[in-house]
Amino acid sequence: MEVVYCSVPHLFWRKKFWCNCDICNSYLTSSWSLEFNNLCDWYSHLLQNSTSQTIHIHVLGNTITANPNNVEYMLKTQFDNYPKGKPFSTILGDLLGRGIFNVDGDSWNFQRRKASRELGTISIRSYAFEIVTAEIRYRLLPLLSSVAGKDGAVLDLQEVLRRFSFDNICKFSFGLDPGCLELTLPISHFADAFDLATKLSAGRAMAASPLVWKIKRLFNIGTEKMLKEAIGKVDILAKEVIRQRRKLGFSTNQDLLSRFMAITEDELYLRDIVISFILAGRDTVASALTCFFWLMATHPEVAVKIRDESDHIIKPNQEFATFQQVREMHYLHAAVYESMRLYPPVQFDSKFARDNDVLPDGTFVKKGTRVTYHPYAMGRMETIWGTDCMEFMPERWLENGAFCPVSPFKYPAFQAGVRVCLGKEMALMEMKSVAVSVLRRFDINLVQWGAMLGFDPGLTATVRGGLPVVVTERRKIAPPSSTYC
Ligand code: HEM
Repeated sequence: MEVVYCSVPHLFWRKKFWCNCDICNSYLTSSWSLEFNNLCDWYSHLLQNSTSQTIHIHVLGNTITANPNNVEYMLKTQFDNYPKGKPFSTILGDLLGRGIFNVDGDSWNFQRRKASRELGTISIRSYAFEIVTAEIRYRLLPLLSSVAGKDGAVLDLQEVLRRFSFDNICKFSFGLDPGCLELTLPISHFADAFDLATKLSAGRAMAASPLVWKIKRLFNIGTEKMLKEAIGKVDILAKEVIRQRRKLGFSTNQDLLSRFMAITEDELYLRDIVISFILAGRDTVASALTCFFWLMATHPEVAVKIRDESDHIIKPNQEFATFQQVREMHYLHAAVYESMRLYPPVQFDSKFARDNDVLPDGTFVKKGTRVTYHPYAMGRMETIWGTDCMEFMPERWLENGAFCPVSPFKYPAFQAGVRVCLGKEMALMEMKSVAVSVLRRFDINLVQWGAMLGFDPGLTATVRGGLPVVVTERRKIAPPSSTYC
């Protein structure tokens, strides 16, 4: 993965040190922040007011577009001219190595083919469903139940969901359970080292010039020293994961690592796979679910409709929805899509033009220019969604009760085209399973009410200040009869 998941690499990309146009002025002086809560809200505003739906931040050498024709052009038609490029892969190279997120060309092609074969099968999807259901049943719901109705008990739902998705992606990817969401909320050295390593890697992008972090790395000082130590810990833990998997046996196992072990013995390659998949499946899902529950709390009428739909599909004596039942819930599916329209976990994603080019809207792109498509802004474009684009309205995705998708180039929350997310179906299933299980059993109330969500800079959209909630139980269910193993 590259710094697509990062919202702060601006200074790093600076091509011109000064430009006097209004946009660059506002960017350089941060005066945009007087009016907007988030940089992505300011960009959305600029893109909404641009006739071509494309803008230029000259000081960053960055062309930003919310035009679906441009997005289709760069992600599909002229895919080869818009690779991730060297600037991003250098920044995340120490952490991600040559993992799928961080490479272009043949190396990417090879990993993509192998990974899509593994992730595309029905058997792996139902394997993932079993993992997610067990984590919900034995950890997530008992944890929510343990605080429900307790005077003054406030839970940071974002932190809970990060632990939830970390357990799931580790179990799915390596068949090993870090147990982060146990009732005691234990410290996980792996999760912590991983957090620090991603944070510091993204922080490299904030250096005034790449030379700054490169010199710090050369002399092993400051944040680079910390990053090296964090990556060292991640490496040790990733190797331990691979060792354990080997010891426990992998030939008959269903997890992703076992499947890759069957085709390669290259330790470094396996390490890069381990890291890439944690990054792919953890923060994205946690971010998407955090925003979803914020929207449920601020739009209770939608939560009611999800419960109504589930009551029609799930039998009265049945506790959890089956894989097939989750697939039948069209309104829920629409609500999840609608939530990621307004709050995509990956708010923008950049590529670097290999050669001079002209985008479909007539924008000239000079070789080497950073070209960014912006899912966050695209979800807020009147030209794409109509005058009610700022309203949270799952119904916009339904026709006669059935979910109707739009072109992925209008809704690139999972990217689109040649490099579309490989975990999309799995992520949607995970989100829907959590949503329906939690909403049927609990009411989630916000501690702080605000009209908009704010985001911290980082590799994915993390809600600033977390999501403090108070949980109340709608109906009691007997605790699970067996313990989790
Ligand atoms: C709501 C959750 C998720 C969202 C919004 C999301 C979004 C994305 C995006 C935007 C990309 C493109 C990144 C880039 O190329 O710069 C991507 C790539 C990818 N995602 Fe996801 N993702 C999610 C969950 C997952 C999960 C759960 C998995 C794995 C189980 C996964 C596996 C991957 C992989 C392997 C790629 C790399 C594809 C390639 O480069 O060819 N994703 N995802």
